[in-house]
Amino acid sequence: MYRTHTCGELRIQNKSNKVILAGWIQRIRELGAVTFIDLRDRYGITQLVVDEKSTDEVKKITAELGREFVIQAEGEVKERTAKNSKINTGDIEIAVDKITVLNKSEIPPFTIEDNSDGGDDLRMKYRYLDLRRNPLKYALTLRHRMAQEVRKYLDSQNFLEIETPCLIKSTPEGARDFVVPSRVNAGEFYALPQSPQTFKQILMVAGYDRYFQIVRCFRDEDLRADRQPEFTQIDCEMSFVEQKDILSMFEGLAKHLFKNVLNVELDKVPQMPYADAMKYYGSDKPDIRFDMKINEITDLAKNNGFSIFDNSEYVGAICAKGCGAYTRKQTDELTDWVKRPQTGASGLIYIKLGEDGIKSSIDKFFTPEQLQKIADRTEAQHGDLILILCGTKKKTQGQLGTLRLEMGNRLGLRNENKFAPLWIVDFPLFEWDDETQRFYAMHHPFTSPKPEDVDKFYSSKNEDIANVNANAYDFVVNGVELGGGSIRIFDRKLQQRMFEILGFTSEAAESQFGFLLNAFKYGAPPHGGIAFGFDRFCAMFGGSDSIRDYIAFPKNNSGRDVMIDSPSPIDDSQLDELSIKIDIKKQS
Ligand code: AMO
Repeated sequence: MYRTHTCGELRIQNKSNKVILAGWIQRIRELGAVTFIDLRDRYGITQLVVDEKSTDEVKKITAELGREFVIQAEGEVKERTAKNSKINTGDIEIAVDKITVLNKSEIPPFTIEDNSDGGDDLRMKYRYLDLRRNPLKYALTLRHRMAQEVRKYLDSQNFLEIETPCLIKSTPEGARDFVVPSRVNAGEFYALPQSPQTFKQILMVAGYDRYFQIVRCFRDEDLRADRQPEFTQIDCEMSFVEQKDILSMFEGLAKHLFKNVLNVELDKVPQMPYADAMKYYGSDKPDIRFDMKINEITDLAKNNGFSIFDNSEYVGAICAKGCGAYTRKQTDELTDWVKRPQTGASGLIYIKLGEDGIKSSIDKFFTPEQLQKIADRTEAQHGDLILILCGTKKKTQGQLGTLRLEMGNRLGLRNENKFAPLWIVDFPLFEWDDETQRFYAMHHPFTSPKPEDVDKFYSSKNEDIANVNANAYDFVVNGVELGGGSIRIFDRKLQQRMFEILGFTSEAAESQFGFLLNAFKYGAPPHGGIAFGFDRFCAMFGGSDSIRDYIAFPKNNSGRDVMIDSPSPIDDSQLDELSIKIDIKKQS
């Protein structure tokens, strides 16, 4: 028997028990004739003691131990004289009778402590060592718990977990595909799924009216803290449903997870139209833990001789409560902040409602009465600071949204123990792209227009098409898009029109999506669904902005797995087999 107990298990009640433990050496402390060894496994740490009463053999082996050696230790559980209340096993220690080295270890390249001294790259390269640390252990344990609870809830609601393929077909919509060459079909490629979207819809046609899958998805897009090239979705689809049915079912899932994993009771999740989210928060994923709404002040700002406002399509303001005493240095620093390329504003105007009345950076152009009107619009009071940006409407709203979040951070309004979920609804169906002069599906090409907008959907005028709303929804918590979905098109004619608007010829639509259009000929039921970003859900529950540590083996910022050193070149013989020629010159 390798062990009778784990390193997190023994308590004072086990006093005098003879036990065997196995694990890794976290730390060795020699205090004169006594050596303390912290032995670690997944479950915790137990202190081993070797002292003058130990056998010569034990002393000899102990003298040669090092950090991260894997050992087995046999001995008796004793009550500690100096107890450690910080760990569960802190009341006891093991007086070691026998010690066996199961494997040695080189000195690890960084310390395996809660706060490691290792840099990102080093820890990624030695991920197995990093995974020994508590923060990662908690993250992966949380992820496991979440997955179990997802299955429990969806199973209780009669959902079937069904797997869909990983080698599928490349399509031009959405993000870039990762492709896989086919050896037996020379010159042809599979694509890894960006999501199982079309498969889950086909399962609905097949009559599996409640489907789910915790599924890996692949997207060749730029990485960010909340984006990985391979990530996991809780992917779901239902038949014979309307939007309200989906929202209520998955509000149920969210409530179940919050309750059973975090012990947090969620209230009814509010809904907010997309247009309001953009207008008041400058974002389609607003953080509503705090107020500080954006107010449009274009009408109050223009025609006062201040050319920067006069030449702007839109002027908007937020009110930072209690910041009226900001110094010149602080407002200058904020101005520099909004000018960073990440925010991209050309400047920042402020109005302070301070000790000495209303003061602003536009005093030359505005009377105190005019400034007061702006203050009233933004509900600013004595002691507050109004921050104003201007420019084109959409861009400025976005910049104000970014500034709002920054002020929320600076003022400590984004409490990570508070959760403010909401549904964003009534998205536009399309986005117009000036560069390519065409419409793109805001969600994906399978999302249905709102029933009341179907006429506009068939209109030949671009203005009508731009105004079609989608039967789509996003689930947002604390400014993070945790999930999104829609009611789908299930009518062949409507789906063909969608492809037409997106610029597909009927031949291209047939060759890319013929399988779906065909399936729609054979009794497709009304259906809809949603997918949650599982990694994001886990990171949110763990209180982190980054999903990386909630994935056992993530990619780094350049999309590399530095532990296995991938991507990497392949042999010429493999390339030959795949009938692929690589232009090496271009590569280097
Ligand atoms: P969507 O593209 O909105 O919808 O994706 C659903 C959710 O997946 C998460 N997500 C990501 N997480 C980590 N890294 C990424 N690169 C990444 N990309 C997306 C987000 C997002 O809300 N098939 C549709 C869903 C549907 O209509 O049912 C889809 O994939 O949390």
